[in-house]
Amino acid sequence: MEWFNLSDNVNLLALIGAAAIILITLFTAGKYFKQMRDDKSEGELLEHNWDGIGEYKNPLPMGWAVMFLLTIIWAIWYYLWGYPLNAYSQIGEYNEEVASYNAKFENKWANPDHATLMGMGEGVFLVQCAQCHGILGDGMAGKAADLSAWGNEKAIVDVILNGSKGLGYPLGEMPAGLLDEDSAKAVAAYMVQEVSKTQKASDPSLVAMGEALWATCAACHGEDGKGMMGQSPDLSSYGKPAFVVDVLNRGKLGHIGNMPAFNDGRLTTVQKEAVGTYILSLSK
Ligand code: HEC
Ligand code: HEC
Repeated sequence: MEWFNLSDNVNLLALIGAAAIILITLFTAGKYFKQMRDDKSEGELLEHNWDGIGEYKNPLPMGWAVMFLLTIIWAIWYYLWGYPLNAYSQIGEYNEEVASYNAKFENKWANPDHATLMGMGEGVFLVQCAQCHGILGDGMAGKAADLSAWGNEKAIVDVILNGSKGLGYPLGEMPAGLLDEDSAKAVAAYMVQEVSKTQKASDPSLVAMGEALWATCAACHGEDGKGMMGQSPDLSSYGKPAFVVDVLNRGKLGHIGNMPAFNDGRLTTVQKEAVGTYILSLSK
């Protein structure tokens, strides 16, 4: 019998404890039985009386009172720090394991080169993004953002003409129709060449005109386009993986639909950067 295996210290201690409890119980019960048989009751009674049953006027024994208070203190300690609120949980252990695995993963890919990011990004895209954006990233006929038309000059023009909403910035929505189409093209040229520095403007002659119109945008995005300390998106990262990482961290309840946030640990930092690199390579 397993539990009777006396070479196991814990079993042995438990058995000794059980024997001690039985002995003490027998001894105490015996003592009180004897007292009930032999003792003559005497002493001062309290005033109250329940159908003839009285109660002696005994002071609270000091040791008992102290034990009582200590028990309450111990119970509070036990509940707050000792066990229940500080307890082991499967979810906690799972989270710790995931965190430590992710740390290893991040460590392994601490300095990814472009090819690594593209490979990893394609993998993440096919698993996490393609079901909405389509395997080609074209948004499956308007079901999600067409990523081949995102993050470039054309997309900026589109945002200026049609507005944007759903990233949850303090300034809220970017209103539609801030500029007419020609002015929007000029601003887009200026933005990609001078603010985000991602591309040469497709028509360099527009850049100076765009700069002159930039004040419209600076009102909300700041003179340097960096978003005025988090009031609106940082346009200096537009067209770069960092902007995609921001979208992934926020999600977007936009005009097209609901882009879920990926801020729950499903993707590590390097995977977000990788998928950002990959989808921007789709941008035409
Ligand atoms: C009234 C304030 C305001 C003005 C003016 C404004 N923006 Fe915005 N812009 C925003 C906000 C807020 C967002 C984030 C919108 C969202 O939640 O999608 C944004 C988003 C953007 C985006 C990112 C869109 C995306 O796909 O996520 C671009 C690009 C942009 N603005 C460019 C501009 C340009 C260029 C101008 C100047 C013509 C401009 N904005 C003027 C407030 C403004
Ligand atoms: C559940 C469907 C869904 C999934 C999954 C999804 N997206 Fe989206 N995504 C959308 C929709 C819908 C939009 C358009 C939101 C809008 O502007 O109305 C969008 C928009 C975007 C945009 C443009 C954001 C902007 O500021 O305009 C980017 C970039 C993007 N998604 C990247 C990704 C990446 C990368 C993944 C995978 C890690 C992903 N999406 C997964 C539905 C999805």
